[in-house]
Amino acid sequence: MTKEALKALLDGMTLEEKAGQLTQCNAGQFIRVDAEITGPEGQPLPADALNRVMGSVLTFENAKQARQLQDMHLAADRNRIPLLLMVDVIHGMKTTYPIPLAMGCSFDDDLLAECAGMARREAAAAGVHVTFNPMVDTARDARWGRILETSSEEPLINGRMGAALVRATQGDDLSDPDNIACCVKHYAAYGAGEAGRDYNAVEISERALRESYLPAYKACVDAGARLVMPSFNALNGIPSVANKWLMNTVLRDEWGFDGVVISDYDAVGELVTHGVAADMKEAACLAMEASCDIDMVKGVYYQHLADLVREGRIPEKALDDAVMRVLELKNDLGLFENPYHGADEEAEKRLNLCPAHREIARRAEEESAVLLKNEGILPLKQNIRNLALIGPFAEEKRLNGFWSRPGAEAYTVTLPEGIRDRMPDLELVIARGCGAELGDTDTDGIAAAAKAARSAEAVVLCLGEPENDSGEGRSRTEVTLPGPQLALAEAVIRANPNTAVVLFNGRPLVLTELEKIAPAILEMWYPGTEAGHALARLLWGDANPCGKLSAGLPRTTGQYPMPYNRTNTGRPKPQPDTGVFPFSSSYLDSPNLPLYSFGYGLSYTSFSYEKLTLDKQSITKNGSLTVTVTVRNTGDRPGKEAVQLYMRDLVASVVRPVQQLIDYKKISLEPGEKKDVVFTVTEKQLRFWDFNCKEISEPGDFELSVGCADHLLLTHRFTLKA
Ligand code: GLC
Repeated sequence: MTKEALKALLDGMTLEEKAGQLTQCNAGQFIRVDAEITGPEGQPLPADALNRVMGSVLTFENAKQARQLQDMHLAADRNRIPLLLMVDVIHGMKTTYPIPLAMGCSFDDDLLAECAGMARREAAAAGVHVTFNPMVDTARDARWGRILETSSEEPLINGRMGAALVRATQGDDLSDPDNIACCVKHYAAYGAGEAGRDYNAVEISERALRESYLPAYKACVDAGARLVMPSFNALNGIPSVANKWLMNTVLRDEWGFDGVVISDYDAVGELVTHGVAADMKEAACLAMEASCDIDMVKGVYYQHLADLVREGRIPEKALDDAVMRVLELKNDLGLFENPYHGADEEAEKRLNLCPAHREIARRAEEESAVLLKNEGILPLKQNIRNLALIGPFAEEKRLNGFWSRPGAEAYTVTLPEGIRDRMPDLELVIARGCGAELGDTDTDGIAAAAKAARSAEAVVLCLGEPENDSGEGRSRTEVTLPGPQLALAEAVIRANPNTAVVLFNGRPLVLTELEKIAPAILEMWYPGTEAGHALARLLWGDANPCGKLSAGLPRTTGQYPMPYNRTNTGRPKPQPDTGVFPFSSSYLDSPNLPLYSFGYGLSYTSFSYEKLTLDKQSITKNGSLTVTVTVRNTGDRPGKEAVQLYMRDLVASVVRPVQQLIDYKKISLEPGEKKDVVFTVTEKQLRFWDFNCKEISEPGDFELSVGCADHLLLTHRFTLKA
């Protein structure tokens, strides 16, 4: 449609119809046609209102439903404005790839883009127009269950991976039925909730917000994300969806975002619960004033916007602007010409879980696994005759993660299936040993598990945290292995020291006690559909682990928040990080450093960082530095390495991190091969937000290092000249 035609369409709409365009319902409220139609969240609506005036729908599963929804609506809407169909396609529609936190550990933006492209194809075929993805919240506290949804504790990774996902999902032209629009979320600082408790208040300085939380959202807006979702939390006292500074001043004015803002689920109505709105009508007013375009599911826009305009509390122009943003998105998706967009049942059959997509998922699972410890246990011998597969996750199918689509577990390749596919003649003994539920104390199965371990040549011990224990509304006060899993590990490893522990979890866990007894630990996170195949290839070395932690693993929950890019303080704890040093920034009962640091991960081969050189010793603001690091594979098998470049600003007008990741590249090396990895460093990467919230760099000395956080291997100094 032309802009003029859109304008004419808008001008012809009633206030109620305009309010409807800004209202999103759950698909269930449409499809449940036999039940009484109540409308959003039980708000009484005229029986046909759901069909006639609604603007968008969320959560459905396939092309058949997508077409049904669109047909029902278009038959009832006099303006024949197509619905926007939106789904949380977070890491796969049918073929599920690893959770975002695992993908962050791949340190491979291109691999994530490949996975996102696969998910986009399957989602488009299912009739999805918009995905509520990427989630790029900085998370530094694993008590918050949604840490699994973000890529990293480092905003640089979240921004780069988020932008890569936006580009791979939206493509160059949204009207192409194979492309879908992205909604970046949750804006902003949702991951900084007090005490790691979901939905909790966030009190943070503007400087810290701009330094560590906003950059990743901005990277996605700059990459062209067409929607933004404000977060549930109050930010410095005002819930994001009503936070004019956050939404109008920063997002709309500073960043120039002119796309659609859609609230989170019920979040507009929750302004009453927060206590910043006296009633739903005021809530609708506050959200509109903060340029929230769509009210997700609560129905308060539908109930109150027309009256608010009639009463002059909301200018009709504000309403028109919001509606026009929604109409423009629908128009850019080509929905007026093709309301079904990519919905295609034949394409679904062809694409969902196809071999090519399974291969992409499996490769992603292999490259996001992190080898934390390995004392000669892995890879397993090729000629092994029997193996004990033990633990509560040994036969688990729910290895996909909180935001996998409903029913994903039906397609998961389990660990026994994957192992048997690779080793058909292997005798596989399986013992559950114990449960993994919070509060589970039943240890009756441990003896039998230990017996199975004792008689096996090798043991793979599958531990972790149930899929439903991380994700939205899943905060914990202690991020330990739930249930009696540690007792099981002690018994099994005592019975057979030739044991490799494999972990399935969404949040970083405390592994301090496990690390003392386990000779090998492989972190698989929630790997997704090809779990069993990926694990089998990793266990026998067809795939060589190359993941690096995108969030450090704590020794105790009490260390949180535990950012790797910490500042030095005036009394840094003397190294080594053991022992008690009163009057230093330390603990009496624990070392300061994580058990495993950000950027850490082992391989079946080994790498040496042989040389770090800079092409000059100083640069000016317009200059750039060429940094070359020589990395060699000193082992006997091919491997991949995520080469990380860290920076330290030695003196600045505000305290600066002792180590800050400013770039990363992933390389492959044959045994004995060495490569020069080249980074270009510019003044832009040296900037920070100063006390007056200005983004600046300051002349002075800097250090560049390679290695991983807390274990920097080579360091070079250079100067930024005025
Ligand atoms: C949820 C989540 C958000 C998701 C939305 C729609 O509450 O906070 O991430 O996109 O609702 O399902």
